[in-house]
Amino acid sequence: MKVLVVGSGGREHALVWKLAQSPKCDQIFCAPGNAGTAEIATNLEFSDNDISGLLKFAKANTIGLTVVGPEVPLVNGIVDRFEDAGLRIFGPNAKAAILEGSKVFSKELLAKYQIPTADYRRFDDAEAAREYLKLNQVYPIVIKADGLAAGKGVLIITTPAEAEIGIRKIMEDRIFGNAGGEIIIEEFLRGPELSMLCFVDSQTVVPMVSAKDYKRIGAGDTGLNTGGMGAISPNPLYDQALENYCLTHIIEPSLEGMRQEHRPFKGILYCGIMLTDDGPKVLEYNVRFGDPETQVILPRLDTDLIDIFEAIIDDRLDQLDVKWAQDAAATIVLASGGYPESYPKGCLISGLEQVTGSTVFHAGTKNDGNSVFTSGGRVLAITSIAPAVAQALKVSYDNARKIEFEGKTLRADIGS
Ligand code: AMP
Ligand code: GLY
Repeated sequence: MKVLVVGSGGREHALVWKLAQSPKCDQIFCAPGNAGTAEIATNLEFSDNDISGLLKFAKANTIGLTVVGPEVPLVNGIVDRFEDAGLRIFGPNAKAAILEGSKVFSKELLAKYQIPTADYRRFDDAEAAREYLKLNQVYPIVIKADGLAAGKGVLIITTPAEAEIGIRKIMEDRIFGNAGGEIIIEEFLRGPELSMLCFVDSQTVVPMVSAKDYKRIGAGDTGLNTGGMGAISPNPLYDQALENYCLTHIIEPSLEGMRQEHRPFKGILYCGIMLTDDGPKVLEYNVRFGDPETQVILPRLDTDLIDIFEAIIDDRLDQLDVKWAQDAAATIVLASGGYPESYPKGCLISGLEQVTGSTVFHAGTKNDGNSVFTSGGRVLAITSIAPAVAQALKVSYDNARKIEFEGKTLRADIGS
Protein backbone atom coordinates (compact mmCIF):
# COMPACT_ATOMS: atom_id res chain seq x y z
CA MET A 1 0.00 0.00 0.00
CA LYS A 2 1.09 3.58 -0.65
CA VAL A 3 0.81 5.83 2.39
CA LEU A 4 0.73 9.64 2.58
CA VAL A 5 1.49 11.53 5.79
CA VAL A 6 0.45 15.20 5.91
CA GLY A 7 2.57 17.60 7.98
CA SER A 8 6.17 18.57 8.63
CA GLY A 9 6.97 18.35 12.34
CA GLY A 10 8.57 15.90 14.73
CA ARG A 11 5.17 14.25 15.11
CA GLU A 12 5.00 13.59 11.39
CA HIS A 13 8.56 12.21 11.30
CA ALA A 14 7.55 9.81 14.09
CA LEU A 15 4.40 8.82 12.15
CA VAL A 16 6.38 8.22 8.95
CA TRP A 17 9.00 6.24 10.91
CA LYS A 18 6.36 4.01 12.52
CA LEU A 19 4.15 3.54 9.43
CA ALA A 20 7.17 2.63 7.28
CA GLN A 21 7.89 -0.28 9.65
CA SER A 22 4.59 -1.92 8.65
CA PRO A 23 4.92 -4.81 6.17
CA LYS A 24 1.79 -3.35 4.52
CA CYS A 25 3.62 -0.13 3.61
CA ASP A 26 5.20 -0.37 0.14
CA GLN A 27 5.90 3.30 -0.37
CA ILE A 28 5.49 6.36 1.83
CA PHE A 29 5.15 10.08 1.02
CA CYS A 30 5.23 13.07 3.33
CA ALA A 31 3.82 16.52 2.51
CA PRO A 32 5.72 18.72 2.97
CA GLY A 33 7.95 16.78 5.43
CA ASN A 34 11.43 17.74 6.64
CA ALA A 35 15.03 16.54 6.34
CA GLY A 36 14.24 13.59 8.63
CA THR A 37 11.18 12.34 6.75
CA ALA A 38 13.18 12.63 3.51
CA GLU A 39 15.40 9.77 4.74
CA ILE A 40 12.42 7.38 4.83
CA ALA A 41 9.74 8.93 2.64
CA THR A 42 9.44 10.91 -0.57
CA ASN A 43 8.77 14.50 0.47
CA LEU A 44 6.17 16.37 -1.60
CA GLU A 45 6.04 20.10 -2.16
CA PHE A 46 2.49 20.66 -0.91
CA SER A 47 1.72 22.73 2.15
CA ASP A 48 -0.12 20.69 4.76
CA ASN A 49 -3.24 22.77 4.16
CA ASP A 50 -3.27 22.51 0.35
CA ILE A 51 -6.22 20.12 0.45
CA SER A 52 -6.95 20.30 -3.29
CA GLY A 53 -3.32 19.65 -4.22
CA LEU A 54 -3.04 16.75 -1.79
CA LEU A 55 -6.30 15.24 -3.03
CA LYS A 56 -5.17 15.45 -6.64
CA PHE A 57 -1.87 13.78 -5.76
CA ALA A 58 -3.55 11.03 -3.72
CA LYS A 59 -5.95 10.21 -6.55
CA ALA A 60 -3.31 10.25 -9.28
CA ASN A 61 -0.94 8.06 -7.24
CA THR A 62 -3.48 5.58 -5.82
CA ILE A 63 -2.64 6.39 -2.20
CA GLY A 64 -4.21 3.66 -0.07
CA LEU A 65 -4.07 5.50 3.25
CA THR A 66 -3.63 9.19 4.14
CA VAL A 67 -2.72 10.15 7.71
CA VAL A 68 -3.05 13.79 8.82
CA GLY A 69 -0.71 15.14 11.52
CA PRO A 70 -1.77 18.75 12.20
CA GLU A 71 -5.15 20.18 13.20
CA VAL A 72 -5.58 22.90 10.55
CA PRO A 73 -6.34 20.62 7.56
CA LEU A 74 -8.61 18.48 9.78
CA VAL A 75 -10.61 21.50 10.91
CA ASN A 76 -10.71 22.67 7.27
CA GLY A 77 -12.29 19.40 6.15
CA ILE A 78 -9.51 17.37 4.52
CA VAL A 79 -11.17 14.14 5.69
CA ASP A 80 -14.52 15.12 4.16
CA ARG A 81 -12.88 15.97 0.81
CA PHE A 82 -10.91 12.71 0.66
CA GLU A 83 -13.89 10.59 1.71
CA ASP A 84 -16.12 12.28 -0.86
CA ALA A 85 -13.56 11.27 -3.47
CA GLY A 86 -13.64 7.67 -2.24
CA LEU A 87 -10.15 7.78 -0.69
CA ARG A 88 -9.19 6.24 2.65
CA ILE A 89 -8.02 8.82 5.16
CA PHE A 90 -7.50 8.64 8.92
CA GLY A 91 -8.89 11.36 11.18
CA PRO A 92 -12.07 13.20 12.21
CA ASN A 93 -14.20 15.02 9.64
CA ALA A 94 -14.74 18.78 9.93
CA LYS A 95 -17.93 18.41 11.99
CA ALA A 96 -16.02 16.41 14.60
CA ALA A 97 -12.74 18.37 14.39
CA ILE A 98 -14.59 21.44 15.70
CA LEU A 99 -13.79 19.96 19.10
CA GLU A 100 -10.33 21.49 18.65
CA GLY A 101 -11.29 24.14 16.09
CA SER A 102 -13.56 26.09 18.45
CA LYS A 103 -12.93 26.63 22.16
CA VAL A 104 -16.47 28.00 22.47
CA PHE A 105 -17.90 24.78 21.01
CA SER A 106 -15.73 22.61 23.26
CA LYS A 107 -16.56 24.56 26.44
CA GLU A 108 -20.30 24.41 25.65
CA LEU A 109 -20.02 20.65 25.07
CA LEU A 110 -18.17 20.21 28.38
CA ALA A 111 -20.85 22.20 30.20
CA LYS A 112 -23.81 20.53 28.49
CA TYR A 113 -22.55 17.01 29.22
CA GLN A 114 -21.31 17.88 32.73
CA ILE A 115 -17.69 17.00 32.08
CA PRO A 116 -15.30 18.54 34.63
CA THR A 117 -13.54 21.67 33.33
CA ALA A 118 -12.67 25.23 34.41
CA ASP A 119 -15.64 27.59 34.97
CA TYR A 120 -15.91 30.01 32.06
CA ARG A 121 -17.80 32.78 30.31
CA ARG A 122 -17.87 33.47 26.57
CA PHE A 123 -17.76 36.93 25.02
CA ASP A 124 -18.16 38.13 21.44
CA ASP A 125 -17.94 41.77 22.52
CA ALA A 126 -14.76 43.35 23.89
CA GLU A 127 -16.67 45.87 26.05
CA ALA A 128 -18.69 43.14 27.73
CA ALA A 129 -15.46 41.23 28.43
CA ARG A 130 -13.94 44.37 29.98
CA GLU A 131 -17.02 44.93 32.16
CA TYR A 132 -16.89 41.33 33.35
CA LEU A 133 -13.21 41.60 34.26
CA LYS A 134 -13.83 44.83 36.22
CA LEU A 135 -16.09 42.82 38.52
CA ASN A 136 -13.73 39.85 38.62
CA GLN A 137 -10.86 40.52 41.00
CA VAL A 138 -9.42 37.01 41.03
CA TYR A 139 -6.12 36.63 39.17
CA PRO A 140 -4.59 34.74 37.46
CA ILE A 141 -7.33 34.22 34.91
CA VAL A 142 -7.17 32.60 31.47
CA ILE A 143 -8.22 34.19 28.18
CA LYS A 144 -8.59 31.94 25.11
CA ALA A 145 -9.21 32.92 21.52
CA ASP A 146 -12.07 30.85 20.11
CA GLY A 147 -10.40 29.48 16.98
CA LEU A 148 -7.07 27.94 16.04
CA ALA A 149 -4.06 30.12 16.83
CA ALA A 150 -1.10 27.79 16.29
CA GLY A 151 -0.95 27.00 20.00
CA LYS A 152 -0.60 30.67 20.97
CA GLY A 153 -4.24 31.52 21.63
CA VAL A 154 -4.19 30.88 25.39
CA LEU A 155 -3.12 33.75 27.65
CA ILE A 156 -2.51 33.32 31.37
CA ILE A 157 -3.33 36.77 32.76
CA THR A 158 -2.01 37.94 36.13
CA THR A 159 -3.05 41.62 36.31
CA PRO A 160 -5.96 43.81 35.11
CA ALA A 161 -3.50 45.66 32.85
CA GLU A 162 -2.52 42.39 31.13
CA ALA A 163 -6.18 41.50 30.75
CA GLU A 164 -6.82 44.79 28.94
CA ILE A 165 -3.89 44.16 26.58
CA GLY A 166 -5.05 40.56 25.97
CA ILE A 167 -8.61 41.57 25.10
CA ARG A 168 -7.43 44.37 22.82
CA LYS A 169 -4.90 42.22 20.98
CA ILE A 170 -7.22 39.25 20.47
CA MET A 171 -10.59 40.94 19.87
CA GLU A 172 -9.71 44.34 18.41
CA ASP A 173 -6.23 44.02 16.85
CA ARG A 174 -7.12 40.44 15.80
CA ILE A 175 -3.57 39.15 16.21
CA PHE A 176 -4.98 35.64 15.68
CA GLY A 177 -7.30 36.73 12.85
CA ASN A 178 -10.87 35.47 12.96
CA ALA A 179 -9.95 33.16 15.86
CA GLY A 180 -10.35 36.29 18.02
CA GLY A 181 -13.97 37.01 17.06
CA GLU A 182 -15.03 35.41 20.30
CA ILE A 183 -13.13 34.64 23.52
CA ILE A 184 -13.45 32.41 26.54
CA ILE A 185 -12.49 33.84 29.92
CA GLU A 186 -11.96 31.01 32.35
CA GLU A 187 -10.85 30.06 35.81
CA PHE A 188 -7.14 29.35 36.26
CA LEU A 189 -6.57 25.73 37.22
CA ARG A 190 -3.62 24.49 39.26
CA GLY A 191 -1.96 21.10 39.22
CA PRO A 192 0.19 18.82 37.14
CA GLU A 193 -0.87 18.26 33.52
CA LEU A 194 -1.61 15.00 31.79
CA SER A 195 -1.83 14.34 28.04
CA MET A 196 -4.32 11.53 27.45
CA LEU A 197 -4.40 10.27 23.88
CA CYS A 198 -6.89 7.68 22.66
CA PHE A 199 -7.57 5.75 19.48
CA VAL A 200 -11.28 6.20 18.77
CA ASP A 201 -13.74 4.73 16.27
CA SER A 202 -17.52 5.05 16.27
CA GLN A 203 -17.97 2.61 19.16
CA THR A 204 -14.62 1.87 20.78
CA VAL A 205 -11.97 3.81 22.71
CA VAL A 206 -8.46 2.46 23.21
CA PRO A 207 -6.31 4.70 25.43
CA MET A 208 -2.65 4.94 24.50
CA VAL A 209 0.13 4.75 27.05
CA SER A 210 0.34 7.99 29.04
CA ALA A 211 2.72 10.88 28.44
CA LYS A 212 3.79 14.11 30.05
CA ASP A 213 4.62 17.15 27.94
CA TYR A 214 6.87 20.01 29.15
CA LYS A 215 5.22 23.07 27.65
CA ARG A 216 7.15 26.04 29.01
CA ILE A 217 10.41 27.20 27.46
CA GLY A 218 12.29 27.51 30.77
CA ALA A 219 13.47 25.04 33.41
CA GLY A 220 11.11 24.64 36.35
CA ASP A 221 8.12 25.40 34.07
CA THR A 222 8.96 29.07 33.67
CA GLY A 223 8.71 31.46 30.73
CA LEU A 224 6.50 31.34 27.66
CA ASN A 225 4.40 28.41 26.51
CA THR A 226 5.84 26.49 23.57
CA GLY A 227 4.59 23.60 21.44
CA GLY A 228 6.43 21.35 23.91
CA MET A 229 10.11 21.12 24.87
CA GLY A 230 10.24 17.44 25.75
CA ALA A 231 8.12 14.54 26.89
CA ILE A 232 8.26 11.33 28.87
CA SER A 233 6.14 8.21 28.75
CA PRO A 234 4.70 6.88 30.97
CA ASN A 235 3.52 9.90 32.96
CA PRO A 236 4.65 9.12 36.55
CA LEU A 237 1.31 10.33 37.97
CA TYR A 238 -0.73 8.00 35.79
CA ASP A 239 -2.09 4.68 36.99
CA GLN A 240 -4.99 2.36 36.18
CA ALA A 241 -7.34 4.13 38.59
CA LEU A 242 -6.65 7.52 36.98
CA GLU A 243 -7.08 6.04 33.50
CA ASN A 244 -10.42 4.52 34.50
CA TYR A 245 -11.55 7.80 36.05
CA CYS A 246 -10.63 9.85 32.97
CA LEU A 247 -12.23 7.33 30.61
CA THR A 248 -15.50 7.27 32.57
CA HIS A 249 -15.77 10.96 33.48
CA ILE A 250 -14.07 12.66 30.55
CA ILE A 251 -13.39 10.64 27.40
CA GLU A 252 -16.56 8.55 27.16
CA PRO A 253 -19.02 11.36 27.99
CA SER A 254 -17.20 13.62 25.50
CA LEU A 255 -17.60 11.05 22.73
CA GLU A 256 -21.21 10.37 23.72
CA GLY A 257 -21.83 14.13 23.66
CA MET A 258 -20.42 14.32 20.15
CA ARG A 259 -22.73 11.49 19.04
CA GLN A 260 -25.71 13.30 20.60
CA GLU A 261 -24.71 16.45 18.72
CA HIS A 262 -24.63 14.44 15.45
CA ARG A 263 -20.89 14.91 15.23
CA PRO A 264 -19.58 11.37 15.80
CA PHE A 265 -15.84 11.42 16.36
CA LYS A 266 -13.23 9.06 15.02
CA GLY A 267 -9.47 9.37 14.91
CA ILE A 268 -7.17 10.46 17.72
CA LEU A 269 -8.76 12.19 20.69
CA TYR A 270 -6.10 13.90 22.77
CA CYS A 271 -7.36 15.45 25.97
CA GLY A 272 -5.24 17.95 27.90
CA ILE A 273 -6.15 17.38 31.54
CA MET A 274 -5.19 19.26 34.71
CA LEU A 275 -4.97 17.06 37.80
CA THR A 276 -6.42 19.58 40.28
CA ASP A 277 -7.14 19.11 44.00
CA ASP A 278 -10.80 18.76 42.96
CA GLY A 279 -9.99 15.97 40.50
CA PRO A 280 -9.03 15.84 36.82
CA LYS A 281 -10.42 18.67 34.70
CA VAL A 282 -10.32 19.18 30.92
CA LEU A 283 -8.06 21.99 29.69
CA GLU A 284 -8.66 21.39 26.01
CA TYR A 285 -9.36 18.83 23.34
CA ASN A 286 -7.09 18.11 20.42
CA VAL A 287 -8.21 15.99 17.48
CA ARG A 288 -4.78 14.69 16.48
CA PHE A 289 -1.56 13.30 17.88
CA GLY A 290 0.43 15.57 20.23
CA ASP A 291 3.86 16.90 19.42
CA PRO A 292 6.22 15.90 21.15
CA GLU A 293 4.03 13.24 22.87
CA THR A 294 3.97 11.18 19.65
CA GLN A 295 7.76 10.96 19.74
CA VAL A 296 7.55 9.02 23.04
CA ILE A 297 4.28 7.14 22.50
CA LEU A 298 4.77 5.58 19.04
CA PRO A 299 8.21 4.08 19.86
CA ARG A 300 6.42 2.14 22.64
CA LEU A 301 3.70 0.79 20.30
CA ASP A 302 4.10 -2.89 19.36
CA THR A 303 1.02 -3.18 17.12
CA ASP A 304 1.18 -2.32 13.42
CA LEU A 305 0.03 1.31 13.16
CA ILE A 306 -1.50 0.76 9.70
CA ASP A 307 -3.65 -2.02 11.21
CA ILE A 308 -4.86 0.37 13.89
CA PHE A 309 -5.68 3.18 11.45
CA GLU A 310 -7.48 0.79 9.10
CA ALA A 311 -9.46 -0.74 11.96
CA ILE A 312 -10.61 2.75 12.99
CA ILE A 313 -11.59 3.71 9.44
CA ASP A 314 -13.62 0.48 9.18
CA ASP A 315 -15.08 0.73 12.71
CA ARG A 316 -13.62 -2.53 13.98
CA LEU A 317 -11.19 -1.25 16.60
CA ASP A 318 -12.91 -3.55 19.12
CA GLN A 319 -11.43 -6.53 17.26
CA LEU A 320 -7.83 -5.35 17.57
CA ASP A 321 -5.52 -6.05 20.49
CA VAL A 322 -3.34 -2.92 20.75
CA LYS A 323 -0.06 -3.85 22.43
CA TRP A 324 2.60 -1.67 24.06
CA ALA A 325 6.16 -2.25 25.17
CA GLN A 326 6.84 -2.11 28.90
CA ASP A 327 9.88 0.09 28.30
CA ALA A 328 9.75 3.81 29.03
CA ALA A 329 10.58 6.61 26.59
CA ALA A 330 11.91 10.16 26.81
CA THR A 331 12.38 12.85 24.20
CA ILE A 332 14.39 16.07 24.43
CA VAL A 333 13.55 18.88 22.03
CA LEU A 334 16.37 21.01 20.63
CA ALA A 335 14.96 24.40 19.67
CA SER A 336 16.29 27.48 17.88
CA GLY A 337 17.60 30.37 20.00
CA GLY A 338 14.74 32.82 20.61
CA TYR A 339 11.94 30.25 20.23
CA PRO A 340 8.96 30.55 20.90
CA GLU A 341 9.40 34.17 19.80
CA SER A 342 11.51 35.11 16.77
CA TYR A 343 14.49 32.94 15.89
CA PRO A 344 16.97 32.59 13.04
CA LYS A 345 16.68 29.93 10.34
CA GLY A 346 19.29 28.31 8.15
CA CYS A 347 21.82 27.42 10.89
CA LEU A 348 24.03 24.43 10.04
CA ILE A 349 23.32 21.36 12.20
CA SER A 350 26.35 19.17 13.00
CA GLY A 351 26.91 15.98 14.98
CA LEU A 352 23.81 14.07 13.83
CA GLU A 353 25.99 11.16 12.70
CA GLN A 354 27.49 10.82 16.19
CA VAL A 355 24.15 9.95 17.82
CA THR A 356 24.02 6.41 19.22
CA GLY A 357 21.17 4.67 21.01
CA SER A 358 18.52 7.34 20.27
CA THR A 359 16.19 8.06 17.37
CA VAL A 360 16.42 11.67 16.21
CA PHE A 361 13.05 12.91 14.98
CA HIS A 362 13.39 16.01 12.84
CA ALA A 363 10.98 18.96 13.09
CA GLY A 364 12.19 22.28 11.65
CA THR A 365 15.02 20.99 9.42
CA LYS A 366 15.94 21.24 5.74
CA ASN A 367 18.51 19.37 3.71
CA ASP A 368 20.20 21.20 0.81
CA GLY A 369 21.61 17.98 -0.61
CA ASN A 370 24.82 18.14 1.41
CA SER A 371 24.01 19.37 4.90
CA VAL A 372 21.10 19.74 7.29
CA PHE A 373 20.01 23.23 8.40
CA THR A 374 17.49 24.59 10.90
CA SER A 375 14.22 25.83 9.42
CA GLY A 376 11.85 26.17 12.38
CA GLY A 377 11.46 26.86 16.09
CA ARG A 378 11.56 23.29 17.29
CA VAL A 379 14.37 21.65 15.35
CA LEU A 380 14.92 18.08 16.59
CA ALA A 381 13.46 15.68 19.18
CA ILE A 382 15.88 13.06 20.52
CA THR A 383 14.00 9.99 21.68
CA SER A 384 15.35 7.08 23.68
CA ILE A 385 13.80 3.89 24.99
CA ALA A 386 14.94 2.14 28.18
CA PRO A 387 13.49 0.08 31.03
CA ALA A 388 13.05 3.28 33.09
CA VAL A 389 12.45 6.94 32.21
CA ALA A 390 15.64 8.05 33.99
CA GLN A 391 17.79 5.83 31.76
CA ALA A 392 16.00 6.96 28.62
CA LEU A 393 16.55 10.58 29.64
CA LYS A 394 20.26 10.03 30.20
CA VAL A 395 20.76 8.57 26.72
CA SER A 396 18.78 11.40 25.11
CA TYR A 397 20.72 14.09 27.01
CA ASP A 398 24.06 12.43 26.12
CA ASN A 399 23.10 12.55 22.45
CA ALA A 400 21.69 16.09 22.74
CA ARG A 401 25.19 17.23 23.70
CA LYS A 402 26.69 15.80 20.50
CA ILE A 403 24.42 17.83 18.21
CA GLU A 404 25.30 21.48 17.63
CA PHE A 405 23.78 24.45 15.86
CA GLU A 406 23.97 28.15 16.57
CA GLY A 407 21.56 29.14 19.35
CA LYS A 408 20.70 25.51 20.30
CA THR A 409 18.22 25.68 23.19
CA LEU A 410 17.00 22.85 25.39
CA ARG A 411 15.42 22.32 28.76
CA ALA A 412 17.79 20.55 31.12
CA ASP A 413 15.03 19.42 33.49
CA ILE A 414 12.80 17.19 31.34
CA GLY A 415 11.59 14.31 33.50
CA SER A 416 12.03 16.08 36.82
P1 AMP B 1 -4.43 24.85 25.26
O1 AMP B 1 -3.96 25.54 24.00
O2 AMP B 1 -5.87 25.02 25.57
O3 AMP B 1 -3.82 23.50 25.36
O4 AMP B 1 -3.69 25.56 26.46
C1 AMP B 1 -2.30 25.59 26.45
C2 AMP B 1 -1.82 25.48 27.86
O5 AMP B 1 -2.33 26.58 28.62
C3 AMP B 1 -2.31 24.25 28.62
O6 AMP B 1 -1.55 23.12 28.34
C4 AMP B 1 -2.13 24.73 30.04
O7 AMP B 1 -0.77 24.66 30.42
C5 AMP B 1 -2.51 26.19 29.95
N1 AMP B 1 -3.93 26.36 30.31
C6 AMP B 1 -5.02 26.30 29.50
N2 AMP B 1 -6.15 26.51 30.19
C7 AMP B 1 -5.80 26.69 31.47
C8 AMP B 1 -6.51 26.93 32.70
N3 AMP B 1 -7.84 27.05 32.72
N4 AMP B 1 -5.79 27.06 33.83
C9 AMP B 1 -4.45 26.96 33.82
N5 AMP B 1 -3.71 26.74 32.72
C10 AMP B 1 -4.38 26.60 31.55
N1 GLY C 1 2.19 19.03 22.86
C1 GLY C 1 1.04 19.82 22.74
C2 GLY C 1 0.28 19.65 21.51
O1 GLY C 1 0.60 18.84 20.67
O2 GLY C 1 -0.73 20.33 21.37
